[in-house]
Amino acid sequence: MSYPSGKLEGYFSQGSPEADLLAQVDFARLPRHVAIIMDGNGRWARTRNMPRVAGHRAGIAAVRDVVETSARLGLQVLTLYAFSVENWKRPESEVSTLMALLREYLRKELRTLQENNIAFNVIGRQEELSAPVRGELRRGMDATRGNDGLLFNIALSYGGRAEIVDACNRLLADRSGSAGGPTPIDEAAFASYLYTAGQPDPDLLIRTSGEMRISNFLLWQIAYAEIWVTETLWPDFRRGELLRAIVDYQKRDRRYGRVGEERPPVRLSQGKVSA
Ligand code: FPP
Repeated sequence: MSYPSGKLEGYFSQGSPEADLLAQVDFARLPRHVAIIMDGNGRWARTRNMPRVAGHRAGIAAVRDVVETSARLGLQVLTLYAFSVENWKRPESEVSTLMALLREYLRKELRTLQENNIAFNVIGRQEELSAPVRGELRRGMDATRGNDGLLFNIALSYGGRAEIVDACNRLLADRSGSAGGPTPIDEAAFASYLYTAGQPDPDLLIRTSGEMRISNFLLWQIAYAEIWVTETLWPDFRRGELLRAIVDYQKRDRRYGRVGEERPPVRLSQGKVSA
């Protein structure tokens, strides 16, 4: 079988459940942007009597697999929620380990990002991160800036409300002193002040570990996203489950507030329902 992106041959072993799922994907209707709330690292570690940070370390294998798979599939944007504004309240040792893991990930994965034509990007309050972390992130972004395949956003020190407030402040700063007083703006103009300016909104939002929460993630951008939740804990999430989410997504009827496709009216005849 041949695939549009040409990068999938041999990536899924023949006859595997993943290859079966891949065969069900409609490449003409891929979600343009997939956003993932990676959750359950702590529980993954606890069930193994390991420290929470062992769960975060194990989560990196899942990050690697999902990033590369997204690029090979031909997704336009992948956004991973790695560290929220609220996560600063975690024990200092957990925060510093997460930051160290992030730096290690970038150092080790830069070559894979380049090989897969992936542009790396950070969304969130980068100014709250330490100088060494910011430096590593900057190096990753600079080195991959010219890549025009997958755009891989990592959300760090990120909060959806914080993003909206930051956008408002940037907008105010831009417009202060403009003659003639405040002028109204529309949704597109407002979105151009968000961290994700210029990117398509997520079509598919995945959350691992079974929690039914949005957790302050991309509040503006997920207005019409399809939500897909799995019980799988993040460290166990792999390409097969990403495919399962995409196949499920493609079965959904996205109406954006409109009525669905016209269906023949349901008629009642002789006590039976017929379509
Ligand atoms: C949520 O699990 C996960 C996080 C807060 C961090 C996610 C980070 C990684 C996967 C590793 C670093 C990321 C990159 C991109 C290199 P949790 O700790 O809240 O789990 P719990 O709900 O089971 O306690």
